[in-house]
Amino acid sequence: MGEVEVCYRAKVPPAEAGCFLAAERHLLESIAERIGKILKRKGAERDLIKRTKELRERNKELNCLYGISRIVERRGSIDGILQGIVTLIPASWQYPDIAAARITTGGRTFQTPRFRRTRHRLARAIKVDGTTMGEVEVCYRAKVPPAEAGCFLAAERHLLESIAKRIGVAIELHRAEQQLRLSHMKLRELIEHLQSAREEERHRLAREIHDEMGQALAALKMDVRWLRERFPRRDTESLRMVRSIERFIDITSQNVQRIASELRPVLLDDFGLPEAIRWQVGQFRKRAGIRCRLLTRPGNLTLDHGLSLVIFRIAQELLTNVIRHAAASRAEVRLEKRGGEVLLRVTDDGRGMRRRMDPAHSFGLRGILERVSYWEGEVNIRSGAGVGTTVEVLIPIPA
Ligand SMILES: Nc1ncnc2c1ncn2[C@@H]1O[C@H](COP(=O)(O)OP(=O)(O)O)[C@@H](O)[C@H]1O
Ligand SMILES: [Mg+2]
Repeated sequence: MGEVEVCYRAKVPPAEAGCFLAAERHLLESIAERIGKILKRKGAERDLIKRTKELRERNKELNCLYGISRIVERRGSIDGILQGIVTLIPASWQYPDIAAARITTGGRTFQTPRFRRTRHRLARAIKVDGTTMGEVEVCYRAKVPPAEAGCFLAAERHLLESIAKRIGVAIELHRAEQQLRLSHMKLRELIEHLQSAREEERHRLAREIHDEMGQALAALKMDVRWLRERFPRRDTESLRMVRSIERFIDITSQNVQRIASELRPVLLDDFGLPEAIRWQVGQFRKRAGIRCRLLTRPGNLTLDHGLSLVIFRIAQELLTNVIRHAAASRAEVRLEKRGGEVLLRVTDDGRGMRRRMDPAHSFGLRGILERVSYWEGEVNIRSGAGVGTTVEVLIPIPA
C-alpha cells in the first residue's frame, strides 16, 4: 500500500549494517506496521460510513414502498390513493427539502406543493396492462451536487421505477374493483327484477286461485245445498254424506283463502304494511305456537308499495327462520319509522346461529342482504348461544 523511509542528508559513520543501527531498522519496521494498521482502520471507518449511508437510503426506499402499499390497501378513491403516494415520494430522495413530485395520469395531475419542472428531473412511465398511462416525476427545485448519474443516485432511479410500477398496479386494481362493483350492482338489479317478476306472478296466481276457485267453490256449495234441501228427511244416510261434502267445501274454501293470502297478502294492498305484518305475526303464532310481540310505530305507517313488499317478504323469511331454526319460546317483531328510515327487527330467544353464515347454504339471509343493499339499507345480525338471534334491517325511505 506504500512505504515509509528515513534518509540522512549527509554521510554518517558506518553502523551495524550499512549506516543504521539494528534497533533503528526494528523501529522503522514497527512504525510501518503501525501506519498499516491505522490505514486499515480508517478504511474500515470510511467503509462503515458509506454502508451506513447506503443503508439509510435503502431504509427510506423501503419506507416509501411500504407507505405506498398501506395507501393502496386502504382502498380509498383512486384520487386519494394517487395524492397519498405523491406526497410520500420527496422524503425518500437525497435532498428531500428541495425535492418535489408529480403524478400525471388520465389527464389529471397530483403533485406536492411547489412542484416545478426543472432540469434536475427524473421521470418514469406508469404502465397499466402494458400500456403507458402517464408518468411519475421527481424534480429538485435547486441545483444539487452531481451524483452517480446526473444528479440522482442509481438507487433513486431504481426506486422511481418501483414506484411507477406500483402506481400502475394500484390503477389496475382500482379498475378491477370498479368493474366488480358494477357487475355486482347489475346482479343486484337482476335479483330485484326477478323478485318483482316473481311477485307479479304470485299476484296473478293469487287472484286466479281466489277468484276462479273461490267462485267455483261458492257455486258448488250452493248446488250442494240445493241438493240437500231436496233429499227426503228420512234419507239420513245421503243427508250425512251431503253435509260432509259441505264441510269439505268449507275447509277447501278456507285453504284457498289462506294460500291466496300467503301468495299475495291482500292486506298489504288494502290496509298497508303494519296490518299485513300483524296478520303475518298472527299466522306465525298459530303455526309455531310461540309467543310473539308486535310493535309498530306509527301504527298507520304508509310506505311505497315496492318497499312494503320487500319488508313484508323479509319479515316472512325471518319468522320462518325462527320456526325452522331457533327453537325459541318467545319472539318479537318491531316495525318502526325512524327519521327517514324504516326499521324491521325480528328477535328470538332461541339457540342462536351455530356457526358463521355459511354462504353456500344461507340463501335466505343472503337474499335479504342483497335486497337490502339494493335498497341502500343495512342489515345487522346479532346472534349467540343463550342470547338468541336478532336481525335488524334498516332501509331509507325513498323521497
Ligand atoms: N333465528 C335463527 N336462530 C338460529 N339459527 C338461525 C336463525 N336464522 C338463521 N339461522 C341459521 O342460519 C342459517 C342460514 O339461514 P337462511 O339463510 O335463512 O337459510 P335456511 O333457512 O334456508 O337454512 C340457517 O340454516 C340456520 O342455521
Ligand atoms: Mg331461511
